[in-house]
Amino acid sequence: MLHRPLHTVGAHEVHLWHLLAEHVTDAAAIQAMRDLLTTDEHVRMNCLRHEKDRVLFLLSRGLMRSVLASYLGCHGRDVCFASDSQGKPILRKENHDQRLHFNLTHSRGAVALAVSGGREVGIDVEERRRTVEYLDLAKRFFAPAEASYLQSLSAEALPDAFFAIWTLKEAFVKGIGRGLSFPLDAFAFDLEANRLQRFQPLADFVSPDWHFQQFELGDHHCGAIAVQHSPGCEVIIEMRDWREIFVV
Ligand SMILES: CC(C)(COP(=O)(O)OP(=O)(O)OC[C@H]1O[C@@H](n2cnc3c(N)ncnc32)[C@H](O)[C@@H]1OP(=O)(O)O)[C@@H](O)C(=O)NCCC(=O)NCCS
Repeated sequence: MLHRPLHTVGAHEVHLWHLLAEHVTDAAAIQAMRDLLTTDEHVRMNCLRHEKDRVLFLLSRGLMRSVLASYLGCHGRDVCFASDSQGKPILRKENHDQRLHFNLTHSRGAVALAVSGGREVGIDVEERRRTVEYLDLAKRFFAPAEASYLQSLSAEALPDAFFAIWTLKEAFVKGIGRGLSFPLDAFAFDLEANRLQRFQPLADFVSPDWHFQQFELGDHHCGAIAVQHSPGCEVIIEMRDWREIFVV
């Protein structure tokens, strides 16, 4: 069973809903999430070859539908989605209030959804233990200053710093709705001990009016959220554990 709470979120607030797959073991909760999915989503889920991908798909859709329904005051199955001109998922305007903005991310056992009452948002989560070609990827896609910074680090420090920059970049390109079609070297993040110090637009087509926050989920995942920012207005970001509020 899932609770059906009602939530509100202000124009300058962002609620960051999260869950780790390893924490959702209750069979009734999993069945309740399954019941929220549309026929198309069931088809999409069943096309995934690996069980862990099917589970993550179910948890992502179940979280997104239950959470958005709690702000919209409807049933999770009745949340209707569309895409904007860049492909970013939005609420279908014929059915829902357009003030609610959201963005979803899922990665290897973790799901997070950012919900805002009036600002564009982008979010990304990655598993930090994953091994990738850190320096090759940084040289190829990141800004030169970011690649040089990563090159200066010890092998031990490199993975966390790489994923800190990667999640910040992905949160930004998802916030603006462009995804990875946007040049990742058109903006840069200065880090100190993996914490963000400064966001630097490097091209005139990159808006500086974005606010960023980094976060951790459990021991193995790191993430970042990007929120469109109006100068002079504070953005309040609140972390919310989906399981604590929705699982009966
Ligand atoms: C969007 C994108 C950055 C997601 O990266 P990822 O690390 O694989 O995935 P994440 O888990 O962080 O995010 C996935 C979610 O982002 C959302 N999303 C999809 N497109 C998006 C976009 N353009 N902007 C913001 N969010 C998007 C969806 O909810 C998606 O969930 P789903 O895959 O379950 O449908 C990447 O898939 C991408 O760039 N896609 C191509 C976009 C593109 O090239 N568009 C060109 C349009 S012409």
